[in-house]
Amino acid sequence: MKTQIIKIDTSTSNWDKQLDQAAEVLRSGGLVAFPTETVYGLGANALDEEAVKSIYRAKGRPSDNPLIVHIADTAAVKDLTDSIPGTAQALMDAFWPGPLTLVMPRSSLVPDIVTACLDTVAVRMPSHPIASALIKKAGVPVAAPSANSSGRPSPTLARHVIEDMMGKIDVIIDGGNAEVGVESTVLDITVDPPVILRPGGVTLEQLRHVLGNVISDQTPGISDMAGTPKSPGMKYRHYSPKATMLLIQGDPEKVAAEISKRAGLYHKEGTAVGILVTDETAGLYESSLYSYCKILSLGSRKEPKTLAANLFRCLREFDEKGVEVIMAETTDIRGIGQAVMNRLMKAAGGNIVKL
Ligand code: TXA
Ligand code: MG
Repeated sequence: MKTQIIKIDTSTSNWDKQLDQAAEVLRSGGLVAFPTETVYGLGANALDEEAVKSIYRAKGRPSDNPLIVHIADTAAVKDLTDSIPGTAQALMDAFWPGPLTLVMPRSSLVPDIVTACLDTVAVRMPSHPIASALIKKAGVPVAAPSANSSGRPSPTLARHVIEDMMGKIDVIIDGGNAEVGVESTVLDITVDPPVILRPGGVTLEQLRHVLGNVISDQTPGISDMAGTPKSPGMKYRHYSPKATMLLIQGDPEKVAAEISKRAGLYHKEGTAVGILVTDETAGLYESSLYSYCKILSLGSRKEPKTLAANLFRCLREFDEKGVEVIMAETTDIRGIGQAVMNRLMKAAGGNIVKL
């Protein structure tokens, strides 16, 4: 299949005209990757069963992992669900458009293939102007998982989508960097109090501010590794770079010393090592490490948003450099840090050393 790449700069006039053809592709059953404020999505008409099937094929995604339905207008919610939970309105007012996905009872309009036969549907209204304009023009709800091959780190740049999806989908819209960098928060509002099934761009603290009581079933990355998760997607190994990954948690000086020691040993064995640090801790590593390891900083711990924004790009960069083992520091789990730690834990397959 020939994949067309359309580059869009939203600061130019009439940029949305460039979406007309992609909207037609969606309407006629094709696949279009597009930027959202969280990560790039791989979209199909959510009401077209065959089109949705081809999403699973392109990603190599297990069919028991349901998709999020993206809308451009809150009015579209009522077609997708039979009963809107009482908490929905306050959440939509506070966080839509934006990185919050609401799990609600589904309507019969939503095909089984979208919800993996669950009796709920996940709905989100993205704030990215390209995502919003594309969905409006298509005139249909758009089912869209992250636009990576299943298991790989989610794409935050069109180049990442090209790596994974070239030749497998119809259109890739390049709209630059996806700002938030981690996916939306998935919140189950069919239960009281609501439960966070996946931490993401909207934080637990922000949700509690609006709703009072909200439960997070995430001891980051741990609770979702055992048992039967309510959000089917959380059970899979995820966000993984090709390298083996290990998290080291503890006092920053001790972490740097431990990582340095292990890096030296790996280097002796001829293993290519990557180290994921932060601006504040980068100086704690011996300068010799910088000559033989690939060291990347996630950004500043004082600006936790930057840690989220850079995470998936850094993981892919280690792969590009042929790194075989990645050692990473852990982050504070307050605010957006909860989503960052969740993704790090998943990428590391739960591999963590506590000093
Ligand atoms: O930010 C995002 O949410 C991105 C962008 C493209 O919007 N999308 C995304 O989709 O991350 P995906 O497919 O990679 O992750 C969707 C998550 C999965 O963990 C899935 O199991 C969960 O949402 N999910 C979808 N429908 C659900 C449902 N009815 N009940 C519980 N969990 C659901
Ligand atoms: Mg995904």
